[in-house]
Amino acid sequence: MNSPSPLTRLPQNHLFRQGDVFVLFGELFGRGYANGLVNEARQAGMEIVGITVGRRDDDNALRPLDDEELAAAEANLGGRIINVPLMAGFDLDAPAGEPTPTAMLGGMTLKTWMGDKLDWAHVEKCREIGIRRFKDSLAEVMARLDDMVADGRNVFFAHTMAGGIPKAKVFLAIANRIYKGRGERFMSSQALLDSDLGKLILQNFDEVSANSFEYLIDGSAAIRARLEGTGGQVRYSAYGYHGTEILIDGRYQWQTYTNYTQGYAKMRLERAARTAWAAGVKATVYNCPEIRTNSSDIFVGVELPLISLLKALKHEQGGEWAEAQWQACRALLQDDVTLETVLEKLEAFHRSAIMQGFRDFAAWPMPNSEALADLMIGASDEIVRMHKDNKALITDLLSTLVLEATGPLMFRESSAPGGPVLWLNHDIIARQLNQMHA
Ligand SMILES: NC(=O)c1ccc[n+]([C@@H]2O[C@H](COP(=O)([O-])OP(=O)(O)OC[C@H]3O[C@@H](n4cnc5c(N)ncnc54)[C@H](O)[C@@H]3O)[C@@H](O)[C@H]2O)c1
Repeated sequence: MNSPSPLTRLPQNHLFRQGDVFVLFGELFGRGYANGLVNEARQAGMEIVGITVGRRDDDNALRPLDDEELAAAEANLGGRIINVPLMAGFDLDAPAGEPTPTAMLGGMTLKTWMGDKLDWAHVEKCREIGIRRFKDSLAEVMARLDDMVADGRNVFFAHTMAGGIPKAKVFLAIANRIYKGRGERFMSSQALLDSDLGKLILQNFDEVSANSFEYLIDGSAAIRARLEGTGGQVRYSAYGYHGTEILIDGRYQWQTYTNYTQGYAKMRLERAARTAWAAGVKATVYNCPEIRTNSSDIFVGVELPLISLLKALKHEQGGEWAEAQWQACRALLQDDVTLETVLEKLEAFHRSAIMQGFRDFAAWPMPNSEALADLMIGASDEIVRMHKDNKALITDLLSTLVLEATGPLMFRESSAPGGPVLWLNHDIIARQLNQMHA
């Protein structure tokens, strides 16, 4: 694919109604993207069903939620949770008595990791065990779900899984440098990809963020066939990331956070949707804008493009409500800082030769560079410091708005989706918000 395929019109729901079932494939966190979809499904009167990734005991054994955890998770979701652990990835799987991939990384240090080699035959054994574990648990989840959905109902499966960073001390230190380090603390993302450590991590990202979607589509084939055979329909959505078009210099232009190491897994996720689509399954990856969530907070600077949404709100004929968002953002800044100053800083940031060099869709996901880290992390720090309180940022407010807009966009579009991969750029997000708040 040479260019993004955007969603260009505000969709309507022609399918989902009271009594249909919405299945969240991933856990729901406070600031997570999935909240937008769950809210929409609830408003449509759908029954909400969730899953859990499970919890790990001290010896790393994976277990279901206990009664207290289950009650809290169900209250948070507002629906029933099928309590079979669906942790994706293989970082803590191994043949009995043998080291897990995470344990294999235990010997690596900040001094040695670039040259340290892994036993790939052993990694492969662990990977196969992790995949089998996941698929077996998924089969159990699907058997229970099958009993919960009556013939002729429509089902919406919303995949939200992304992650796979192994809990190895050495990697946490490296991640801190790659995603947060500048100057002497800068570290090249390419060095990570060239190492055995990086290759292992990419495999794990693939499992968690991409292959789990494929397993979901395959694992629900029997339910899909039964429902389709009795007048119902089944849809699948997943959250992708592949850069976003935002307003720069008065026109929408594609840009991206760099280095998005998970990008290879996200492209694999897109391929999974295309393959399913070609086989007649309505599965759509929605490539979503950069927002701040539990998962994205590690990437310092990923939130910068989000601030341009303010301009898109006005550009897309936002009225009083859009103006009120500007005012709410102004109120978060220190008294001697104007919102216009922040926006001008961002324009200069995006216009810089360094940032322009990364606006190469075909080359995505490009490795980071020291100049980029200096500029982006510097700009992020500087803008945070312009706020009254670093716990109440413009990007907190705008993140909430973006996830609010993605809910109806994804939910409604999935009733009759236009394709397997769609970008939700700032234009459509702003139009959806302006319409909701008109
Ligand atoms: N935050 C962003 O800027 C952004 C942008 C575009 C797309 N997305 C995507 O949106 C989706 C939701 O992410 P979010 O940013 O809202 O954060 P989040 O932390 O709320 O959600 C992460 C999800 O991944 C699941 N997960 C994590 N590790 C897992 C594992 N090993 N096995 C199974 N599930 C696992 C969690 O249960 C949760 O449902 C992800 O696919 C993410 O890549 C996020």
